[in-house]
Amino acid sequence: MSSAIQYNNDSADVEGNVISLNDQGVEEVSDRLLASAARLSRNAMTEIDWSLPMEPDKHGCSPEWSSLYGTDYWNELTDEQRVSLTRHEFASIMCIGIWFEMVLQELVLRDQYLGEYHSTEFQFALVEVADECRHSLMFSKASEKMVGKSYRPNKLVGRLGKVFKYVAKNEVAYAGILVAEEVLDVFQRGCMRDDRVLPFIRTVNEIHVLEEARHMKYAREQVRESMQGVGWFRRKLSALVVSMGAYMIVANLVRPQAYADAGLDKGRAYGEAAHNEHFHSMIRSSCTHLMEFLDEVGLLTKPALRYYRRAHMI
Ligand SMILES: [Fe+2]
Ligand SMILES: [Fe+2]
Repeated sequence: MSSAIQYNNDSADVEGNVISLNDQGVEEVSDRLLASAARLSRNAMTEIDWSLPMEPDKHGCSPEWSSLYGTDYWNELTDEQRVSLTRHEFASIMCIGIWFEMVLQELVLRDQYLGEYHSTEFQFALVEVADECRHSLMFSKASEKMVGKSYRPNKLVGRLGKVFKYVAKNEVAYAGILVAEEVLDVFQRGCMRDDRVLPFIRTVNEIHVLEEARHMKYAREQVRESMQGVGWFRRKLSALVVSMGAYMIVANLVRPQAYADAGLDKGRAYGEAAHNEHFHSMIRSSCTHLMEFLDEVGLLTKPALRYYRRAHMI
């Protein structure tokens, strides 16, 4: 770790490159994050015993985080149905996580394509891609074990994601990444210490929360840097695009098919979840920190607020 710190202090002399003042924030943060990643990276493939049987009464996420918790439908369900529901809901959330992690790996790689290959910013970007790759593998294994199937975003959102990963850059790319990571983080933090949840899922959550904390710090720094000197029009447009992306991610987290796979009436479950004030308030209260950050960097504009409200994030 000391070598990483030394590298940062001496980078201008050792590498013969002067890092501009603008780069210093990201460089310093990357430096610290690299050291942290070297110390604290985890591997679910070796850490989790994937062959262990699942206890039948353990949930996929904390019941309070079910999109139906507190509704009339929830009250009618047996314990067994609730377990099945939370397992399918969380599998859906992990799969939407895989989808977005694939988008963001491309965003990060494109951003660094002709970057400063000696910089700590570049090095941490590679660590992030490697982390995401392992996370997606972990989510894939966990979905396979828990429900034996996977979920994808709806067709339109799938196509929009394709466009987003080709065109998004700077603050749009990193604020988009940040929003997706924060939303997933919120669910996982809520469930990682709950002993009603399957132990291997708790480990999955713990690993993801720990490693994403670094990614979110990196994304925040990238957004701060990109927003320096940004004009009125670009700020408004970036804010709007990010909020629309956030809305689509949140709206797609629990796929309606997950209700059907849990043996529920898909239409009724979807309808009650869409109006579930408990679930909305869980999301809202967890996004406070994210909204404060977006406000701080000038990305919480009025039109953007409309989308965050629709997603119940504020
Ligand atoms: Fe991840
Ligand atoms: Fe991440």
